[in-house]
Amino acid sequence: MKKVGFLGVGEYLPEKILTNQQLEKMVDTSDEWITTRTGIKERHLAASGEAASDLAFKAAQKALANANFKPADLELIIVATITGDMPTPSTAAILQNMLGAPKAACFDLSAACAGFVYGISVAQQFIASGTYKNALVVGAEVLSSITDWQDRNTCVLFGDGAGAVVLAEVKHGGIISTYLGCDGSKVDILNVPGGGSRNPATHTTVDAHQHFLKMSGNELFKIAVNTMTMAAQTVLKQAGLTFADVDLIIPHQANSRIIMAVAKKLGIPEEKVYLNIERCGNMSSASTVTALVEAVAEGKVKRGDIILLDAFGAGLVWGACIIKW
Ligand code: ACO
Repeated sequence: MKKVGFLGVGEYLPEKILTNQQLEKMVDTSDEWITTRTGIKERHLAASGEAASDLAFKAAQKALANANFKPADLELIIVATITGDMPTPSTAAILQNMLGAPKAACFDLSAACAGFVYGISVAQQFIASGTYKNALVVGAEVLSSITDWQDRNTCVLFGDGAGAVVLAEVKHGGIISTYLGCDGSKVDILNVPGGGSRNPATHTTVDAHQHFLKMSGNELFKIAVNTMTMAAQTVLKQAGLTFADVDLIIPHQANSRIIMAVAKKLGIPEEKVYLNIERCGNMSSASTVTALVEAVAEGKVKRGDIILLDAFGAGLVWGACIIKW
């Protein structure tokens, strides 16, 4: 099998920032509640009219520049998102045109917060098999567009952003092991009930706020801790490694309490856990990739390091990945 690794990484976070103090004026909440329950202090929000492809484009441009790679040479573009520009065409197709990448096959991937890990795993298969030589994988979300700004249970949690990576065959390092999974019996505890073919958009669905994310947070919390722990253990075992070999864990950023509970169960010390949740909130498919991009930029990921990505979200889906940087 060909080794598949990262040629370049990039992120884009919208300029506008919404702080907990500003949220206090919008719903019945407090900075103290949000900080202690979630670890979030602020989040970035897309400007009016700014869509997932706009965020994806800026992140992709940075990743391509970082990789010193021309868009015209791209052979595959995968955009992991649950907030694409429109139901069809794919955001990846829109991005292809923005970038000027006419050779690339394009599709979107819907695996919620595990979308980026699913995306790099799919791209890895295409490259390892020789079907494509390279791939751009983007996690891009405008979650503010499906957030109910009157519901304090959810509106304090989410943010907007995008991260991108360029993947190709590498001589050293690369993706060592991935583990993906799903439990489709629990779709009811995290979903957007309106707007799909089950419940198409009508005045009634809009009036009932059915186009916004609905979440049984408390129920999800325990499942998230157990599933992320299991996914990390499974992917490490597949890779023939132990937790002592891991230099940095980059988890999905839904809640710092979930992340620290997972780290504790795995016996991984806090200093080996990368967090950007305080500044970004939960950006679904964009969370894991932006955290990776930032960890690299801060020098927390060095050549030869073993990185563990660990993500969980609506589906319920999960994805874990071991990378040698
Ligand atoms: N401000 C103040 N009080 C609040 C707020 C708020 N923003 N939100 C909820 N509360 C209240 C509740 O109404 C409840 O009050 P009550 O006891 O009077 O009924 C109380 O706080 C406690 O509510 P809980 O739901 O028990 O709070 P919990 O400690 O579980 O924290 C949270 C809630 C942050 C949502 C947590 O459960 C969580 O992070 N869950 C997992 C989220 C997750 O993993 N999602 C998956 C990925 S997301 C994706 O895929 C898009």
